[in-house]
Amino acid sequence: MRKGFVVWFTGLPGSGKTAIARELEKRLAAKGIPTEILDGDEVRKWLSPEAGFSREDRERHIKRVAHVSKLLAKHGVAVLVSLVSPYRSVRDYARKLIGDFVEVYVKCSLETCIKRDPKGLYKRALAGEIKDMTGIQDPYEEPLSPEVVVDTERQSLKECVDTVYRKLVELGYL
Ligand SMILES: Nc1ncnc2c1ncn2[C@@H]1O[C@H](COP(=O)(O)OP(=O)(O)OP(=O)(O)O)[C@@H](O)[C@H]1O
Ligand SMILES: [Mg+2]
Repeated sequence: MRKGFVVWFTGLPGSGKTAIARELEKRLAAKGIPTEILDGDEVRKWLSPEAGFSREDRERHIKRVAHVSKLLAKHGVAVLVSLVSPYRSVRDYARKLIGDFVEVYVKCSLETCIKRDPKGLYKRALAGEIKDMTGIQDPYEEPLSPEVVVDTERQSLKECVDTVYRKLVELGYL
């Protein structure tokens, strides 16, 4: 059986995690690789419906996603996790738990994320309607040694996907 793995996309809201994960999924599916996306927003609804955005709630949610990812990866699935996951310590928890873990830092300046604002959340946070927005009131801790860094201000979506894909080949997962 093919070895499963987890690609963990982390970055500021609006940096491009979901966009890249969706394109990568298409590419893996075209190769016949069983792939599952665990996207922050979607998964939160059913896995952590009670959670808010305090550090404790975020950490608990991220740990749950890590455990689900591990189970899927164990059965040969390529798991693409797109989650802000702002705290280094919990990402490291996921890394240790999962083992076959490819951390992708989706890098983008806060300024550009605010301009993109695909969900209108920055606007609401800057207006004071949201009090715990990553990048505005809450911290984002950049990864110190991620397997991959993609810069969505300087690279096209396709280039970002290519970069992740190449790393997966290099690591022997594809
Ligand atoms: N090189 C790029 N890679 C990815 N997205 C890009 C790139 N250039 C521009 N974009 C755009 O940036 C936006 C990123 O939105 P996306 O929903 O993927 O962010 P996200 O990181 O998943 O945010 P959130 O944490 O809020 O879910 C999209 O509108 C996308 O089209
Ligand atoms: Mg997203």
